[in-house]
Amino acid sequence: MKKLILAIESSCDDSSIAIISIDDYKCIFHKKLSQESEHENYGGVVPELAARLHATALPQLLKLCKPYFKDLVAVAVTCTPGLSVSLLSGISMAKTISLELKIPLIGVNHLLGHVYSLFIDEKKDFKDLAVLLVSGGHTMVLDLSKNKPVILSKSLDDSFGESFDKTAKLLGMGYPGGVRVQELALKAREKSMSFTLPMRQVKSYDYSFSGLKNQVRLKTLEYEKLELDIKSEIAFAFEETATQHIIHKLDKLLEYHSFKTLGLVGGAGANLKLRSKLKALCEAKNMSLKLASLEFCSDNALMIARAAIEQYKDKDFSSFKDELLFYNNLSS
Ligand code: KG4
Ligand code: ZN
Repeated sequence: MKKLILAIESSCDDSSIAIISIDDYKCIFHKKLSQESEHENYGGVVPELAARLHATALPQLLKLCKPYFKDLVAVAVTCTPGLSVSLLSGISMAKTISLELKIPLIGVNHLLGHVYSLFIDEKKDFKDLAVLLVSGGHTMVLDLSKNKPVILSKSLDDSFGESFDKTAKLLGMGYPGGVRVQELALKAREKSMSFTLPMRQVKSYDYSFSGLKNQVRLKTLEYEKLELDIKSEIAFAFEETATQHIIHKLDKLLEYHSFKTLGLVGGAGANLKLRSKLKALCEAKNMSLKLASLEFCSDNALMIARAAIEQYKDKDFSSFKDELLFYNNLSS
């Protein structure tokens, strides 16, 4: 008999359910319903709307999982961080499944889930591993080589992904902004515009993207009308500076902390310029680079299921009394 874990992800605007096989990491079921088009009208994610959409999407997905119920040995759910009303949709469903099927409940930290997107169908290898996590809500470098993940650096304000979303908004490109800004930047021809690199004179390894967003805002005000060619020049200069800021600080951090492997995870880890700059950085530093596949960069339940396998093996279960929304297994 196969031992399976069912995992639910509902931390933001993706409703997703996955089922994974514990012994061979095989994906048995994985589906995601994105709410992007519903939130687009509002220029960003509306938490109340996201929660209501999860309440209809998750049961639809769960229905498809019924044939596997008899083999489930645990149910996992993203419990933090995220939009609390969205998280609660998944948590309530997971608690009900746990009660009904009499199987343990596993609360998974969403950020740790992203880390496991590097090892979706394989044994984990955290030896000498640092991970750059860039999502819509977070930008951080994690040391995975210790007993618990340790945050080595982080953004002090906006995240890398959020700065793309805000730039897209300033350029009238709508939501979500990441891919749209990336595509717009590819259309730039002159490439003569530039922005100041954030935190250049500051010694810390931390990041800041809010000043860069303001530079973009001021640049847009210089033009009476934002024609496509101007927009693409701005998008190019922004993407160049944002990715360079990541590399500049990471380069310094890796001089101080040495690792054999660097991983890249998170929705904004799909950015092609960032991926190619990290490749060059790792080559120069003689490090190996492990990129999450594009399919698993953005939020998905399979990475949560994969993380849950480790917690299942460690018997790291949640009780119904646990306040899952505040459960945290990262330290800084
Ligand atoms: O991990 P994710 O799916 O959700 C969170 O956990 O936040 O990340 C979503 C973020 C958004 O800010 C989106 O604009 C950004 O990832 N993103 C990108 C790209 N694709 C998605 N940012 C830059 N370039 C991309 N190609
Ligand atoms: Zn995420």
